[in-house]
Amino acid sequence: MMKKKILITGGNGYIGQLLYQSLFSMYDLDIVHGPSSQTKPSVDLTNKDEVDQFFIGKNYDVIINCAGTKDFNFCNTNIGGTMALNCHIVENLLQKISSQCQFIQLSSDYVFAPKTQSLPVISEDYPDTPYGESKLIAEQICRIYDKNYVIVRVAGVYSINGGFLANLVDCYNKHEVFSAYSNWYYSPLYHTAFIEGVVSLIDDEVSKQTLNLVGNRVSRYDFAKEVLKQGHFDQHLLTCDTDSKHEITDRSLAVSSYFSAKHICMLSYEDAIIDAMKKVI
Ligand SMILES: NC(=O)c1ccc[n+]([C@@H]2O[C@H](COP(=O)([O-])OP(=O)(O)OC[C@H]3O[C@@H](n4cnc5c(N)ncnc54)[C@H](OP(=O)(O)O)[C@@H]3O)[C@@H](O)[C@H]2O)c1
Repeated sequence: MMKKKILITGGNGYIGQLLYQSLFSMYDLDIVHGPSSQTKPSVDLTNKDEVDQFFIGKNYDVIINCAGTKDFNFCNTNIGGTMALNCHIVENLLQKISSQCQFIQLSSDYVFAPKTQSLPVISEDYPDTPYGESKLIAEQICRIYDKNYVIVRVAGVYSINGGFLANLVDCYNKHEVFSAYSNWYYSPLYHTAFIEGVVSLIDDEVSKQTLNLVGNRVSRYDFAKEVLKQGHFDQHLLTCDTDSKHEITDRSLAVSSYFSAKHICMLSYEDAIIDAMKKVI
């Protein structure tokens, strides 16, 4: 059987690299880099003409869109730029693809208002940051174009090379003290489960669905404490803080039944940290 032809956008980014390294032996992969990259092909996907040019003569079974920004400082100060990167790119790609092509859009737990005890949740989809707002608009663009999209809401993919885990290890290695909130909860996802989930979406040709692919609920502090313990770092490098604005800020999601039924290997965060730390100790 012919391997599926897949395009990964955002090829230099953290998620793009994770996917490329894991999927290249399974599928016929193409990758496209952002405009700041020295590696070819590099395309400014916010620019419709460049996108049109790039797609000439190309036909994909699947596009996994990993181009965009998750830089909170940028998103908070440059709404136009955020919309271009997180929304216009989605629209430019959807305009070019055939109705058979599966379009996998990486979304985020930030499309939700967090559950807090002091602020009632107005609706499920109620982002409280410009980043979350741009990701929610991108989801809506996918639904309006109504092609073979699948939206995957993930919360912080971590590995020893990226995400919160890598930031913590870097910080502890430099003997810098890290302060983490004990009343902030989320549901981070170990990279192996992320890859397994994406592969099942491709192989099952899932279409027109919005799915949560997440790990188990944990506070930022408990996660940081486990990394400290498993890495045998000095315990003074972590301090426990609380966000005084809310009693609790809980952005954790429940994994969608589609993924539960696939029996994806969802390591507990403790086991995932042990697994990841084997590569550094
Ligand atoms: N990381 C997570 O845990 C996580 C969780 C939920 C959702 N997501 C979503 O997944 C996506 C990728 O996240 P990430 O962590 O991999 O981010 P990242 O490391 O910042 O990568 C973003 C990628 O987008 C590319 N890009 C930026 N501007 C572009 C443009 N104008 N045209 C084409 N490509 C452009 C960048 O290319 P250059 O390197 O060339 O600039 C880079 O490769 C984001 O949309 C994010 O919202 C990520």
